[in-house]
Amino acid sequence: MTAKKKKIGLFGFGSVGQGLYDILASSKGFNAEVSKIVIKNADKERTLPAEFFSTDANDILNDPTIDLVVELIDNADDAYHIVTSALKSGKTVISANKKLIAEHFVELVNLQKENNATLLYEASSCASIPIIRTLEEYYDNETLHGVSGIFNGSSNYILSKVQNEGLAYASALKDAQDLGFAESDPALDVGGYDAKYKLVIITGHSYGVFLDPDDVFNYGIQHLSEADVEYARSRNLKIKLVAQVSKVDDGNISLFVTPQFVSPESNLYNVENEYNGVTVEAAFSEKQLFYGKGAGGHPTGSAVLSDISAALYDYRYEYKKAKSIVKYSYSKEVELEVYLRFNNQSILDFIPFTAITEEGKNYVVGTVKLGTLLHVKNTLEQDGAFLVSTGKVKKIETNLSQVSQEAVLV
Ligand code: HSE
Repeated sequence: MTAKKKKIGLFGFGSVGQGLYDILASSKGFNAEVSKIVIKNADKERTLPAEFFSTDANDILNDPTIDLVVELIDNADDAYHIVTSALKSGKTVISANKKLIAEHFVELVNLQKENNATLLYEASSCASIPIIRTLEEYYDNETLHGVSGIFNGSSNYILSKVQNEGLAYASALKDAQDLGFAESDPALDVGGYDAKYKLVIITGHSYGVFLDPDDVFNYGIQHLSEADVEYARSRNLKIKLVAQVSKVDDGNISLFVTPQFVSPESNLYNVENEYNGVTVEAAFSEKQLFYGKGAGGHPTGSAVLSDISAALYDYRYEYKKAKSIVKYSYSKEVELEVYLRFNNQSILDFIPFTAITEEGKNYVVGTVKLGTLLHVKNTLEQDGAFLVSTGKVKKIETNLSQVSQEAVLV
């Protein structure tokens, strides 16, 4: 006798919701099916019969026959209500919402424990690349030197089109939106926020450190100019938006998202368009690259399918790094080497570089503290300055006691 199919209550039927539906429809023998879909806009034309749809969240949240809640909506505040309500009623929840998870990480981890509920979110970070479960299960014990990479498909798509095909930034962004890669507010993509939310999640699963995204430096690609592209090209480099977390010493990690110069020797050099690439560097396995589509309905839907499947055999994250005896703190007491191209030379008065190694007409290359960058971010943005990290991070020996406090799990 075949087991009764589990019922899925789906929130959202945009590009990822539709992608998941297509994947479920083509996955023969899968023991779960969508029984109700809650959407915001009842007037939009849909590809499924009207009886599937409702605009009332309670049609899923209060339905005891629904086993799994899958949250694939855009608005992180609405998603917070859905996910926390479902967890409080002990339901298994799957979410792709990186902003929601990063901003409420500790609360969501604790809610699972308090309610004996499960929340899975593989699709939230780098879509089809199974990085969260890999960090949680494969790298459960090995010391990680760092995890870095291209975590945002839209900005990578734009940078590829601008640098490789000479497309204008605005047309490349429009293409990324039309192809369904971009967030409904694309400033989250090009400003490095989306990559930062993913980095915060990945940091939790890599080092057991749970951070407020506002405390992590991100600088985006909006102010990229032809001069920056030319600077990189003349040195045989490409500019990529890179998120990175790395171990600074035995007790500290450091993390940030910035455009970065990438050389042909780097694993990330040929990661183009909407593809993501995640490099994991560990003590014994050494450097590994995980490569795959980081955006789009089907790649993201595939990660959601994998979470549904995992939930069917009662998989849950154990947050192993947070339980490890090896504890890390977040330190901003590191120096980054950066290229800074500015519009007004006077902004240099506000940025205390610790050293300057190269000076051009409207740019400098030098080292600056990560903590300083967080403070001067608005000044940089207002100037329209473009900042690129060279990837070199150096620990500041004297001051590592000044570390930030992270939230703790119950
Ligand atoms: N807007 C995101 C991106 C979607 O471009 O990567 C996948 O998280």
